[in-house]
Amino acid sequence: MRKSRIYPNGELGKEGVLRVLVAGASGYLGRFIAEELKARGHWIRVLVRDADALKVPGRYLAPAIHGLVDEIFVGDVTKPNTLEHVCQNIDVLISALGITRQSGASHMDVDYQGNKNLLHLALQASVRKFIYVHVFNASILQFLENVQAKQKFVDDLQGSGMAHTVLCPTGFFSDMTEFLQMAKKGRVYLIGDGISRINPIHGADLAKVCVDAIACDVEELSVGGPVTYTYQQIAETAFSAVKRPPVIWHLPMGMIRTAVSLLYPFSRRLYGIGRGLIALMQIDSVAPESGTHTLAQYYEQILSAEF
Ligand SMILES: NC(=O)c1ccc[n+]([C@@H]2O[C@H](COP(=O)([O-])OP(=O)(O)OC[C@H]3O[C@@H](n4cnc5c(N)ncnc54)[C@H](OP(=O)(O)O)[C@@H]3O)[C@@H](O)[C@H]2O)c1
Repeated sequence: MRKSRIYPNGELGKEGVLRVLVAGASGYLGRFIAEELKARGHWIRVLVRDADALKVPGRYLAPAIHGLVDEIFVGDVTKPNTLEHVCQNIDVLISALGITRQSGASHMDVDYQGNKNLLHLALQASVRKFIYVHVFNASILQFLENVQAKQKFVDDLQGSGMAHTVLCPTGFFSDMTEFLQMAKKGRVYLIGDGISRINPIHGADLAKVCVDAIACDVEELSVGGPVTYTYQQIAETAFSAVKRPPVIWHLPMGMIRTAVSLLYPFSRRLYGIGRGLIALMQIDSVAPESGTHTLAQYYEQILSAEF
């Protein structure tokens, strides 16, 4: 943990209502961040590409936030001409912005350059703190394109002179939904023996940490959810939620490695996803615990919402 030079005693958080810009506010985490900021009485501007998307709930039980936010700024971080004045009169910028699904743009375009464009504007507008959502275990996962782009931005942020906190979370509950979908179909596939461990985190729990970071004088913070599971246990939790006996297939690591390497000439994207999955299933992703939500509760809620 490194200490910030600029707000050594969490001064920023002691000032009552702040004006906060949330980038990536239409995404899974961004929606929970906006909700948490509002619950604490802050003034919020959100940067989104599609204002209407905020009128309906997001995927994985993320809230609709259209009625909560004070100002909607429509812009695209890859198009700097759409971002003029986005940081005007803003105290704190929280970025949960990035590519997590298929997209026409690259990780370098969005995760790196898009955040860099925001940092540039934040410095010009004298924004007082930048809170950025990075990933846990970035140094081990450096070979992945998304992690490279995110780390490159973190390096720039750290060298920029801007007060900042970089949050490094483990996997989100949104990503753990895939195990539930497989269990519903009757079979969960794991790569390898499934004994690696992870403490995934719910968006609402991570949003609290993001908002607490406003007043926090630590520059880098790793965080995970309150319960640590092996991947085998996550699969079993998913089967228990769908009330089916567990049918878990362990795919041999060597076979998957070969299959993924064959993807390279055809699809760099699928190759990247495959390498990411292999890496994640081989290493422990256990970070300091935070929050209260468990996967069993989350799976129940997803199933009730579908019903
Ligand atoms: N998911 C995980 O397990 C995990 C784990 C650790 C860290 N993280 C990081 O945490 C952050 C948030 O993840 P998430 O799961 O909440 O992601 P998400 O649901 O995919 O949300 C990403 C957000 O970025 C926005 N965005 C993408 N390209 C943009 C552009 N060109 N201009 C403006 N906005 C753009 C999206 O807007 P649209 O709605 O318009 O697409 C969306 O609001 C990401 O940086 C991710 O890398 C995720």
